[in-house]
Amino acid sequence: MHVERLTGVLGARVHVGPLQELSVDELAELRALACEHEVIILPGQSLTPLEQVDFSRRLGPAADSPFIEPSPDHPEVIKVLKEASDGNAFNFGGAWHSDFSFQTTPPSFTVLHALDIPPYGGDTLWSSMTAAYRALSPQHQEQLAPLSAVHTARDAYSPKMQPLHSGLSSMNIVCDESANNTEIHPLITTHAETGKKVLFYNRAYVRDLLGMADEIEKLRLMDWLHLHTTDAKFTVRHKWSVGDVAIWDNRSTQHNALNDYAGFRRELHRTTVRGERPVA
Ligand code: SIN
Repeated sequence: MHVERLTGVLGARVHVGPLQELSVDELAELRALACEHEVIILPGQSLTPLEQVDFSRRLGPAADSPFIEPSPDHPEVIKVLKEASDGNAFNFGGAWHSDFSFQTTPPSFTVLHALDIPPYGGDTLWSSMTAAYRALSPQHQEQLAPLSAVHTARDAYSPKMQPLHSGLSSMNIVCDESANNTEIHPLITTHAETGKKVLFYNRAYVRDLLGMADEIEKLRLMDWLHLHTTDAKFTVRHKWSVGDVAIWDNRSTQHNALNDYAGFRRELHRTTVRGERPVA
């Protein structure tokens, strides 16, 4: 496999043959590259939904994807689709987040395959939460280590959010009360495969921190954590081409799909792989 790094921090373009034909050893190599570079882009792929499901299952069992109605023929595939006629509607994934971090066992990897891409815009950004952790001073790392984060989909998929999602005519996002459930994960986690420390924070789903008495300080810290973990120096930005497959590690990154292509169609197929419970 030919690997080209995209930044000094995270991201690599990996030239590899058809994903349908990878040997066991090649798959292990690809998985290790995804963990090391945190997001990898594989250009020139062509996967049917079933082939994408098969490939994704080789990385691990499918994750549950609540709130988003999957493709009718392929329940493990989400069509991330904004029609040209959807105009300025809010796009799926259009805020900094780590996929479904509100789950007990959030997804390890997401696989996203580009099928229809606007002539400009619709890029995706990823930020490295391992780099964000490494950039903290030792004292700051020690201060944050005892804290836990309360993750919830309350401000993304509870019923009050339904109007936000209803502008996507070809995606059926169904908000419900289960979005108010909460899950507590350590703020500093240890990546299950690399052993690296991660500042496991994202503003979309973290709504509280446990272990801090002062409410004002806590709110300040949460604002700062968002700004720090999404700082440009920890990011990579990808301009999609049809046929690209991105594989990213949700245990070490956040991402944000830009919504700057009103009047054009954008379609990608998404599968997610179940991860493990994050540990401190
Ligand atoms: C997502 O958040 O899964 C969607 C990312 C994208 O559409 O680029």
